[in-house]
This record gives sequence, structure tokens and C-alpha cells, in this order.
Amino acid sequence: MIPPQLIEKIKFSQSLVILTGAGVSAESGIPTFRDLVTGVWQNFDAQKLASADGFVADPALVWSFYEWCRDKVSKIEPNPAHHAIASLVSKIPNLSVITQNVDDLHERAGNNGVIHLHGRLNHSRCFRCNEPHADLENNAAKKSPLDRDQIIDPPHCRKCGGLIRPDVIWFGEALPQNEYNLSEVLCMEADLLLIIGTSGLVYPAANLPYLAKQAGARIAQINYEVNEFESIADFNLYGKAGKLLPLLCQLAFG
Ligand code: OAD
Ligand code: ZN
Repeated sequence: MIPPQLIEKIKFSQSLVILTGAGVSAESGIPTFRDLVTGVWQNFDAQKLASADGFVADPALVWSFYEWCRDKVSKIEPNPAHHAIASLVSKIPNLSVITQNVDDLHERAGNNGVIHLHGRLNHSRCFRCNEPHADLENNAAKKSPLDRDQIIDPPHCRKCGGLIRPDVIWFGEALPQNEYNLSEVLCMEADLLLIIGTSGLVYPAANLPYLAKQAGARIAQINYEVNEFESIADFNLYGKAGKLLPLLCQLAFG
């Protein structure tokens, strides 16, 4: 059941911010972080694959892991939740999408200008001088499908010869300052913040809903289960984003 007040709120919103987490991509087949930590990742040290120290210790292992992830993500599709968000672009005057996800499913569903707080899987940069590296060729285009055991050396920076790293935020690294500052401003100016599929456990991204609330925004969230934002949300919709979000957009905009 979707509350009529929320339908009205989204229908007449003048500045809507949507904050997404791994839950919005779950129905596309990307495991969420909590699933990973209790699932496939539980037997290995994520610090080795998602940290600068891990990259220094074994650049080829880390690079190969992200090549494997890119290969996997390139083979899956955006789900109805991504498409529902993209459909709002033409309906809401000021719509901003902020994501903690590093996949490109929002973009492939049609959202441009998405703010990626934790970086992007398909982008890379020099570990030494930070020079951006040309967008990675899509692994799907490669002849031999990349399997988990293939170890690939990272490329080298054309500017300084340093090793190229994935442009994602690793353990212990700060968020991109411009993206985070812009996200704070957008959340403080929003009349409605819609939070989709995040546990709200990782800061500073998890701070954004509290800022929005303090600045007077109404808060709605779609999640599969009760989470950190339960108490500050004006509307808590429990269920799958791929089902609830298209329904909410249908009820609001027909
Ligand atoms: P989590 O795995 O922590 O949380 C995913 C949330 O999505 C959970 O609250 C689930 O209940 C919910 N969920 C799962 N499937 C869903 C579905 N089909 N529909 C709706 N909700 C669903 O992932 P995040 O909150 O995104 O940081 O994690 C935040 C950050 O923690 C990640 O960006 C990553 C990790 O450390 C970095 O990579 C820097
Ligand atoms: Zn360099």
C-alpha cells in the first residue's frame, strides 16, 4: 500500500533528490554489500581487493578483480527501478540522483549527471598522479570472456608511467569532495528525499538524509527491510525497489 500523501508529494515535488544504494541494483543481479560480506566475500579479505595497500601489495590481483567485476556488470541490465528513476527526469523540474553504487546502471537506464559518491567501476586513473585514464574498453567486447582466475596487469599512465587503478573509493579513502559537497547542498534544498536500497551504515553518505530532514525535506524510503533511516523517514515502503518504485511513479504520473 503506497500512502496517498507520498503520491501527492512526489507528484508536486519541485526539487526531488533520490539517493540510491546497492538495493536498487540487486534485482539486476548485483549482490549487495551486506550479501557479499555474508556471502561470497566472507572467505576473503576485502581489504586486499578494495584498499590502496592491497593494490600496492598486488596490483595485478586488484586490477583483475575489478576487470572481472566490470565484465560481470557489462553483462547485466538495468532493472525496472532504474528505469522508473530515469522516467522521472521529464516529470520533475529539479531531479537529482545521488548514488553510492559504482555500477553504470542508472546511466544505462537513461539518467545522466548521476552523482557517484563512491566512484565508478568503468572509470580509472593513475595511482601516482591521478591523471584520468581513457575509459576502459568494455570487457564484453573482448574475445575471451574474462574468468575469475585470469590475472591481468594494470595498464600504465601515459603521463607519468605510474600504475592505473580503478576510480572507486577504497577502504580508508575520502569521498570525492566536490560530489559530496554538491550532494549536501542538493539534500538541503530538496522538498523530498527518496532513499532507495541502502542500509544507511556507511558514512558520510549516510549523513545526507539527516541533513535533508534537518533542512525541512520530507523523507521517503524504499527498502527490503527495516534499516537505519526507519525513524527519520516520513514514509517507509518495505519491498523490492523493482516493484515498488514503478508502482509509485505510475500512481503519481500515470
Ligand atoms: P548494503 O548492502 O549495505 O545495503 C543494501 C540495502 O538494500 C539493504 O538495506 C537491503 O535491505 C536493501 N535491499 C536489498 N535488495 C533490495 C531490493 N530488491 N529492493 C530494495 N531494497 C533492497 O549496500 P549499501 O547501503 O549501498 O561503500 O552500502 C553502502 C556502501 O557500503 C557501499 O557503497 C560500499 C559499502 O562499503 C564503498 O564502496 C565505499
Ligand atoms: Zn600518472
